[in-house]
Amino acid sequence: MEPIKVLTNDLDVVNMYASADSSMLGGYKAFYNGRFNTIIVNPKWALVSFFDKIVIRGYAVFDTVNMINGKLFALKEHIERFYRSINYAKIPLTYTPEQVENILINLARVAKFSKGQGHLRYFMSRGGSELIPISNPATKAVFYAVAFEMPVTVVAPQAPAFTSSIPLKPKLLAITKTSNYLLNCMAADESSKKGGQAIFETDDGYPTESSIAGVGFIIDGDTYHVPPYEQALDSVTALVIFDLIKKHMLGKEITKISRENIKSSELKKRASEMLIVGADKVIPVLSWDGVKISEGVGPITKKIIELYKEATINSHYCVSIDKPNL
Ligand SMILES: Cc1ncc(COP(=O)(O)O)c(C=O)c1O
Repeated sequence: MEPIKVLTNDLDVVNMYASADSSMLGGYKAFYNGRFNTIIVNPKWALVSFFDKIVIRGYAVFDTVNMINGKLFALKEHIERFYRSINYAKIPLTYTPEQVENILINLARVAKFSKGQGHLRYFMSRGGSELIPISNPATKAVFYAVAFEMPVTVVAPQAPAFTSSIPLKPKLLAITKTSNYLLNCMAADESSKKGGQAIFETDDGYPTESSIAGVGFIIDGDTYHVPPYEQALDSVTALVIFDLIKKHMLGKEITKISRENIKSSELKKRASEMLIVGADKVIPVLSWDGVKISEGVGPITKKIIELYKEATINSHYCVSIDKPNL
């Protein structure tokens, strides 16, 4: 190892960061730093203070919104959930939802996703600059947001599901989209090694959600079942699908929406179709822990996918970024 340098001069520090290798940050387009109310397009300067509570204590919540076909999908719904997380995490309100929306629209405009597809991930940190866990009540929360260009897949190929051996988050952490995804990442890693998607389960055998998505079932032939969000995040993708089912399928292919607690063992017997829904994506699931749920992608899942695809192309969920906000 080379001798450690000690820098005391601001310019030397700037030069050091400017010389950093950013070749790995392929899709990076822009970063909004709330400390300076500034959008930075150079990836080398997408920096957050080490002392910010988001780094040193993991005290932050986040949410994401994707750009699909040049429009931000379900922007309002994602911001609403972001504010529910802020509220659960007792982070003081520094910004209004309108200001957050405005920053995100401007970030997307600056990012100029070339194929109209990209990802905005935004965080509300408790902020601060002290090492101790207690925050000074006068300290303001800080908003950060990053824009990445990447393809957004609305329908993924079918995949098997596996009940995760990773423990569930306690209720408060499960219903709040905190920036700590340790258990989610571990569950995703575990299920991807098995070649499928994770299903979290309570100690007494009730499924809750997937690693970064919700889960839905067709049970008893005509009931759409989604486990209650008692220990799971309220998926925006699932919310859009509920809306589409209510508008187009209720009273036809689907007679009822169920939000009861039903054990995994029972669902494995009663389900004729299963799907994972999250991150704006639907993934049909044909087997769960080796138990066959359906032979191929079932007719109700196919209809949901068709309606969902249409909604991502043209519906009130597609938000234009054309209005000049800067
Ligand atoms: C733990 C968890 N559950 C569910 C979801 C699904 O939420 P959404 O459909 O809003 O992407 C996500 C993704 O954000 C998640 O991280």
